[in-house]
Amino acid sequence: TLGKGDRATAGPDARGTRVMVFGRVHRERKQKGVAFITLRDGFGFMQVVLSGPLAQTYDAVTLTRETSMMIKGELWEVPTGAHAPNNREMHADYFEILGKAPGGDDAITNKVQAKGDAQTLLDQRHLVLRGETASSVMFVRDAVEHAFNCKYHELGYVKVSPPALVQTQVEGGSTLFGLDYYGEKAYLTQSSQLYLETAIPFAGNVYCIEKSFRAEKSLTRRHLSEYTHVEGELDFITFDDLLEHIEDMMCSVIEKVMAQPRIAAMIKELNPEFTVPERPFMRMRYTDAIDWLREHNIPNENDQPHEFGDDIAEAAERRMTDMINRPIFLTHFPAEIKSFYMPRDVDDPRVTESVDCLMPGVGEIVGGSMRIWKNDELMKGYAREGIDPAPYYWYTDQRKYGGSPHGGYGLGLERFLAWLCKQHTVRDTCLYPRYMGRCRP
Ligand code: 4AD
Ligand code: MG
Repeated sequence: TLGKGDRATAGPDARGTRVMVFGRVHRERKQKGVAFITLRDGFGFMQVVLSGPLAQTYDAVTLTRETSMMIKGELWEVPTGAHAPNNREMHADYFEILGKAPGGDDAITNKVQAKGDAQTLLDQRHLVLRGETASSVMFVRDAVEHAFNCKYHELGYVKVSPPALVQTQVEGGSTLFGLDYYGEKAYLTQSSQLYLETAIPFAGNVYCIEKSFRAEKSLTRRHLSEYTHVEGELDFITFDDLLEHIEDMMCSVIEKVMAQPRIAAMIKELNPEFTVPERPFMRMRYTDAIDWLREHNIPNENDQPHEFGDDIAEAAERRMTDMINRPIFLTHFPAEIKSFYMPRDVDDPRVTESVDCLMPGVGEIVGGSMRIWKNDELMKGYAREGIDPAPYYWYTDQRKYGGSPHGGYGLGLERFLAWLCKQHTVRDTCLYPRYMGRCRP
């Protein structure tokens, strides 16, 4: 019978001791009379040496990658440069095969590299995830999500869990996923923002990490139909407070993940040029961005010079961010291209107290704003967007029962990871990406 195993990456005190480990064969190499196995157990990798009669057994001779096994043996220290993870290897004296993996044409390596095209890799994602690159991104993702939770709690924020099934829109009707809810119309939420706003009167500053859904009809490298949204809502603040908080949040999370040696090493491997961004982030008003784009002859979507009021499209945004090559807070967008809940700037009522945080390589990672907190202004916002206020009564009520100057933001976790881990597309930062045309595995 199998007992509780030791982790293949147990601490240095395990050296010289006998251990029992469980894992899967990540790599194997057979030489005359000796087999070397790199065993993977999620915690890390360990080199295992099978020698003598053990290496001659049928199971050892026919061992394939991804086979799961139990191994008993002694840990030996080996010199740096011997290519053994953690400078140690296990000398096995006993092993059992638990689950065999096919070799030959069905071997995982052949399946995963079969055509090498993106769609095949996505179809085989359940196997691709076992590889070092894909799994590293997942480990970084876990560390990032954990760091957000820690940082919010250090700041005294309360985590709430808003519903995913809703009857209101937040970011425009065109990307809503509609569904039949016991005969009523409902949607998958685009953002938890409106619900977070209703939580600040009882909890103060709040946050959530939930899924958001967008029926994006375009295939880009940064759009998903289901993504993880890190959203915060801050009470009794100014727009400047909001910008400072977003900057602090992003930098603190990066510091927290970089302070973990295993995670930092993965980031270094995935993104060798990564450096922690300098604070403060560059601040740029929308009107200055329009001037910048005109000066640099970067056209709008109709191939015309950018004008005030234009949406800055993905391509132009990314070119600008890549050329400036540092994080940018792009602020004060015109009301017409932003959502109904954004208040106008007192000095320039054409624009709103809104911000996008742009990162080189990806572009927009965060979208945020102050929120209209006066009832009559909100009514104008609904009207401008053609929204029927009736289903929003609970949101409107926030303005009637002790309104407050407040604001918040949403950060796309997959985009943050694409930037941090230098992944070409957000599809490689999800366990199983969802986008137009793909809903499996
Ligand atoms: O800019 P967005 O649409 O803002 C909101 O949803 C606000 N209500 C959030 C808030 O203030 N609480 O989305 C916020 C972020 C974007 O900056 C982007 O990083 C990410 O969510 N995002 C997506 N990520 C992947 N796929 C998509 N289709 C995304 N749409 C938005
Ligand atoms: Mg946005």
